[in-house]
Amino acid sequence: MRVIAIDGPAGSGKSTVGRLLAERLGLTYLDTGAMYRAVAFAAIRGGVDPVDAGPVAQLAQRIDLQLGNGTVVVDGVDASVEIRGPEVSRAVSTVAANPDVRAEMRSRQRAWAAERGGGVIEGRDIGSVVFPDAVLKVYLTADPEVRAQRRAKEMTDLAYDSVAADLARRDAADQGRSHSPLVEAEDAVVLDTTGMGIEEVLDHLVALVEERSAAREESSG
Ligand code: DC
Repeated sequence: MRVIAIDGPAGSGKSTVGRLLAERLGLTYLDTGAMYRAVAFAAIRGGVDPVDAGPVAQLAQRIDLQLGNGTVVVDGVDASVEIRGPEVSRAVSTVAANPDVRAEMRSRQRAWAAERGGGVIEGRDIGSVVFPDAVLKVYLTADPEVRAQRRAKEMTDLAYDSVAADLARRDAADQGRSHSPLVEAEDAVVLDTTGMGIEEVLDHLVALVEERSAAREESSG
């Protein structure tokens, strides 16, 4: 199984890099943040309070999730746009801190990768917890102002200040939670994308994947 793990805070470029890297390598791409967002969406839609750990965990185990190329369908309802909205963004940190929700998402992510023989998988705990044997673990980061600018550009209806405040709040929640907090995996390649162009980042990562894959083949055969 060939997994490329990409972790890092919001706005560090994970999604853009992940999608394009998967294209270049001919692998499938999985956005695990969208899975946590989908659970938050299902809770809101079903009238379940995100802080009610038991009912939210049950919901996570029950829901049907269809993740496509930029689309997310939750129990037959297209949630692709709504999962990026402010309501879901406010609730998602609480949902992602729920250990039973995390256990369920982890097992779905592993099953997803096993079915495909790997893929480019993006999130917060992919290299550190979900796929400790990933061929390559990348930890992407960028200055907070740059990350907030990138996010504000993605969401035209939100002002920079509110995006920056939401990002800072989620960074703190993701890094401070007790279950699978956002950390750099010990063996991760740390890449600060603040002043880097996308092509530069991709070239660097493709070269690393090729190098690691060759080394792995050599040591196994
Ligand atoms: O990457 P994103 O902003 O769409 O992620 C949404 C939330 O889900 C974010 O607050 C952190 C959480 N998350 C997580 O805890 N573990 C992952 N593997 C992916 C996302």
